[in-house]
Amino acid sequence: MDGAPTRTHRLSDMVMRITASMTIRMEERAKALAAQGVRVVAFAAGEPDFDTPEPVKEAAIAAIRQGFTKYTASSGIRELREAIAAKLKRDQGLEYAWNEIVVSNGGKQALYNAVAAVCGPEEEVIIPSPCWVTFPEQVKVVGGTPVLVPARAPDFVPDPADVAAKITPLTRAIVMNSPNNPTGAVYTKEALSGIADLALRHNLYIIVDEIYQSMTYDGTRHYSIPALRPDARELCLLVNSMSKAFAMTGWRVGSVAGPREVIEGIDRLQGHVTGNPNSIAQKAAVFALTENVDCTPMVREYDRRRKHIVGELNKIPGFKCAMPKGAFYAFPDITALLGKKAPDRTVIKDSMALAEYFINEAHVVMVPGDAFFGPGHLRLSYATSMAEIDEGLARIRKAVEKLA
Ligand SMILES: Cc1ncc(COP(=O)(O)O)c(C=O)c1O
Repeated sequence: MDGAPTRTHRLSDMVMRITASMTIRMEERAKALAAQGVRVVAFAAGEPDFDTPEPVKEAAIAAIRQGFTKYTASSGIRELREAIAAKLKRDQGLEYAWNEIVVSNGGKQALYNAVAAVCGPEEEVIIPSPCWVTFPEQVKVVGGTPVLVPARAPDFVPDPADVAAKITPLTRAIVMNSPNNPTGAVYTKEALSGIADLALRHNLYIIVDEIYQSMTYDGTRHYSIPALRPDARELCLLVNSMSKAFAMTGWRVGSVAGPREVIEGIDRLQGHVTGNPNSIAQKAAVFALTENVDCTPMVREYDRRRKHIVGELNKIPGFKCAMPKGAFYAFPDITALLGKKAPDRTVIKDSMALAEYFINEAHVVMVPGDAFFGPGHLRLSYATSMAEIDEGLARIRKAVEKLA
């Protein structure tokens, strides 16, 4: 039974300021339809369709058996922080001490901690858009103002000159998410270096979200700002997560690495908000990071799907899709379909209306670009099987044919 409202409540201004995550809402739509027996094709979830690797699960089971089921240090066990430091050294050539790292409940909390540590009420955080739905909302939670800077299609790499134009005395940080959700963009060395220059000139933090770091294609190289620009290292808050790289979304393990003073502030904050991330998941993460669990077959499979889905999307009238260089999202331009009429005569006025049309007409769930401040686009996650991709595309094509 669903809870029915019995009285009206007055919620805090903070909660009233933020909006629900559209990606989560779309995933819930898909699940609700499926629960009614509808055969849904869901491209909404930003979640690997692969299972967590078996040895990682075994490591967690062993941790439970050994009774590793109590509180840990609120910033995570030293063993995991050392494993993250070793990964940063191995993959990016970065030197971080274990106590320059906090482990949190997923990349989401790590990002929130980073924002909360450096941005206060009335202050501003610059976010290139289209952007992941959560960045602006987290800034609003801390009372700050998200300042969006559109990155230009089709490559969606932010131009440092556009970012520079938005810097004010209230700016505290710039968010850099590469590989990017929702666009799949991988930022160039020049763009990242330009952002590092701005951060140094204006004394701004760079919140670097690298959670799709292991997913780049066609030989595209991912550059980490503190490795590319060691002179800006002190300003970088480097966020990563086990979720996408190791297919561990449900385990909730993410981290932030940064200058000791900021990390100590984050430690104080997390100590009062959640305390430690799950002890068992921490042990599983240590195993995944130290035992060289090989996730490259997953990335190879994403690559195969990427080429297929983009090629096929471009054959659908009204869809124009650039080839993304990273992450696992296609972000087609659908502006040619806007203004058309559905069979019931409703006008498809924006990406939200188009996503709604595809749900109702074809039972295909995608996230509207508007949710990411990327109007005129849809986001399709290709972290789903090839058979599902083909079924979904066939349905989309049929539904498009009905638009007039
Ligand atoms: C860009 C980006 N950052 C961070 C996250 C957070 O991931 P998690 O909290 O599962 O580590 C996501 C998840 O979708 C994401 O897309």
